[in-house]
Amino acid sequence: MASFPIRRMRRRRRNPAIREFLAESHLTRHDLVQPLFVCDGVGIDRPIDSLAGQHHHSTDRIGDRALEVEEAGVSAVLLFGVPDQKDSRGSSSVDPAGVIPRAIREIRQRAPNLLIIADVCLCEFTDHGHCGIITDTREEGFQVDNDATLEVLAEQATVFAEAGCDIVAPSAMADGQVGAIRSALDGAGHEEVMILSYAAKYASAFYGPFRDAAGSTPAGGDRLGYQMDPRNSREALQEVALDLEEGADIVMVKPGLPYLDIISRVHDTFDIPIASYHVSGEWAQLNAAADRGWIDLDRAYIESLQSLRRAGASIIVTYGAERAARLLGVHN
Ligand code: PBG
Repeated sequence: MASFPIRRMRRRRRNPAIREFLAESHLTRHDLVQPLFVCDGVGIDRPIDSLAGQHHHSTDRIGDRALEVEEAGVSAVLLFGVPDQKDSRGSSSVDPAGVIPRAIREIRQRAPNLLIIADVCLCEFTDHGHCGIITDTREEGFQVDNDATLEVLAEQATVFAEAGCDIVAPSAMADGQVGAIRSALDGAGHEEVMILSYAAKYASAFYGPFRDAAGSTPAGGDRLGYQMDPRNSREALQEVALDLEEGADIVMVKPGLPYLDIISRVHDTFDIPIASYHVSGEWAQLNAAADRGWIDLDRAYIESLQSLRRAGASIIVTYGAERAARLLGVHN
């Protein structure tokens, strides 16, 4: 290959039209998923301190909020429940009249073009804050019973599908959760509902602000017994392979920017849509620095999302989805 002065890389960067023409990856509003927090009660639209721009919405308000998201051109919402009732088994999560089923029906009516993704997990619904059924609280902190948890996850997914969601997203990191959910959905006649599995979900410090928002901080112990060790990447490929065998339609890598290498490896290894979750701590970092005037929020934010796209994610879950969609514009 020729080199300088024949080869001048700057020719490719001379003006916006050339740069647009030669861009190797593209971020559009269609790639984005807006998380929403739904709570019990009436008339609630309460800002969440730890998560800039995010609110707790009661089910009677969630339709209006979803409509704003749809109008910005975002593809989908990801729903998290913040229920009043919590117990050791997360019983309110399988109530057909619970926060999530009610929110799904409301959004379906008000924003019919929005895809609805429902997070399937127990931590927001349990009083102990763990992502499953606890059997032993005595030694070594809290032990989550994997197989007992599968039953509740499968029931939850079925209840959410019944209410009309398009996609269920199991995030409990329970072994076999995708298979258990797939067979429960199919058994109930919901073959068309997709599964977006949190396949490679790491035990991350970047979830802090979310746990405040969802009231899901573990009462004791931590999540190291079920979420992945941040030092591992080959293990992530095995997690993805297993979820694919069990019937996952889309796999997620989470968090986002600290795990670009994982997205890239999954992208190189499997022909499957990949979602990335730009998590609460990442959003908090950007906002904290921008509040101090140290970075330009919108530019740093779009660059972050573009990096996730470049690494190989085709779907990005992010707290600023609506904001990003408006920045990117309807023509994109
Ligand atoms: C668990 C769940 C978590 C997040 C999404 N689903 C938190 C956890 O594992 O503690 C975190 C999302 C974020 O930090 O933005 N159901």
